[in-house]
Amino acid sequence: MLVYVHPVLGAAALALLLYAAWQGIGARGRPRNRARKLAAHSAIAPWAFAAVLLTWVAGGLSTHFLRGDIDFAETNHFGLGSTLVTLLGLSLVSSRRMLRGSVNAREVHVWIGVAAVLVAAAQAFTGLRITP
Ligand code: HEM
Ligand code: HEM
Repeated sequence: MLVYVHPVLGAAALALLLYAAWQGIGARGRPRNRARKLAAHSAIAPWAFAAVLLTWVAGGLSTHFLRGDIDFAETNHFGLGSTLVTLLGLSLVSSRRMLRGSVNAREVHVWIGVAAVLVAAAQAFTGLRITP
């Protein structure tokens, strides 16, 4: 039963991340909604990143202690999960720069975020493939 804790946590973390991304992209739609969507995105995105980090740690622990059939850091899911954590770390750094006024950081942040969402989709897919 414990082996399912990580996948459930992972699904929740990815849902939160997608919601945060949706708000961010939505801010680029109707100007009328921009301030509200940016505020929602800025409030949720750091929590989504924290949830993904926690899930990464839980996945490693779960693999090491509960799964006799896979070794730690053996799977594609590990590589993608680590890439996702790195991309979100860069999202956080670029968001700090954009709030200090960098226009470049604002553009780069969006593209890093889009890459993170694509990796997140692959993360769910590879996770399902190794679910017992
Ligand atoms: C935030 C998203 C996620 C991250 C960062 C993440 C990260 C990880 C990491 C680092 C591992 C260790 C892999 C290894 O050592 O080779 C792992 C294991 C695993 N992950 Fe994920 N994962 C995520 C989402 C998911 C999802 C959505 C599922 C399934 C639907 C899933 C299913 C699994 C399974 C089955 C394992 C093996 C451990 C176990 O059976 O509990 N993961 N994950
Ligand atoms: C660690 C994760 C993230 C953090 C901390 C974060 C934070 C922020 C912050 C503080 C802003 C600026 C808000 C403002 O100007 O008031 C922003 C804007 C934005 N973010 Fe993120 N974000 C993260 C991840 C993502 C992801 C995954 C996406 C996915 C596409 C994304 C897309 C956007 C977009 C489209 C904007 C609006 C840019 C603009 O039109 O000016 N962010 N983010």
